[in-house]
Amino acid sequence: MKTRARKAPRAASAPCGGGAGTGSAADFIPPRPSLTRLREAAAHCRGCDLWTCGRVVFGEGPRDATVMFVGEQPGDQEEQARKPFVGPAGGVLDRALAAAGVPRAETFVTNAVKHFKHEQRGKRRLHKTPNAGEVIACRWWLDAERAIVRPRVIVALGATAGLSVFGKPTPIGKFRQQAIQLPDQAQGVITYHPSYLLRLPDRAAKEEAFGKFVEDLKFAGKLAA
Ligand code: URA
Ligand code: SF4
Repeated sequence: MKTRARKAPRAASAPCGGGAGTGSAADFIPPRPSLTRLREAAAHCRGCDLWTCGRVVFGEGPRDATVMFVGEQPGDQEEQARKPFVGPAGGVLDRALAAAGVPRAETFVTNAVKHFKHEQRGKRRLHKTPNAGEVIACRWWLDAERAIVRPRVIVALGATAGLSVFGKPTPIGKFRQQAIQLPDQAQGVITYHPSYLLRLPDRAAKEEAFGKFVEDLKFAGKLAA
């Protein structure tokens, strides 16, 4: 057995959440970063205890995007593809964006937390919601993405993204369809997380929520125009 600590142990060597992080992603942000340099640096982040949870999924999209979407954290399929919102939630987002007339390719899509927090159950990796400490530790990456892309509108998808983008709990039912001024000149919007739509029990509830979601995306699109 090896006793010497390796600089970057493989994630599989410790369970997800089992590695002590430095407490902040700020320790890993390169000076005067570009999106490419940020992406490279984020791959080695150990800013919180989620660094053993697989690979980092960084944001994706054009540098001049006017709308930025912020999800919670990558899921199982996103971690495998190393791309945000490519699994079932991504499918819902794609359909809603199409219905709202907002081309996804023109938007920047990222997450509040860049690692997939999960619990291993046999072969399956079950989603675990990141806690506030992890959101705060990881927000440096999101802030760096924001500083480069400088979107006109930032759409928080769900409560975790809301906590990250607005810095405090922001109830969706109360704040949806409102433009919230952010300190970096962007307007913030909060709406449902697409996974919430997937979890709704019946078809009628799903359709109603999907309709509201599409309205919120249209609202964000108009705000950015
Ligand atoms: N859920 C998220 O919040 N983000 C993703 O990238 C995928 C699912
Ligand atoms: Fe770094 Fe964020 Fe991953 Fe934590 S979740 S290790 S802060 S990239």
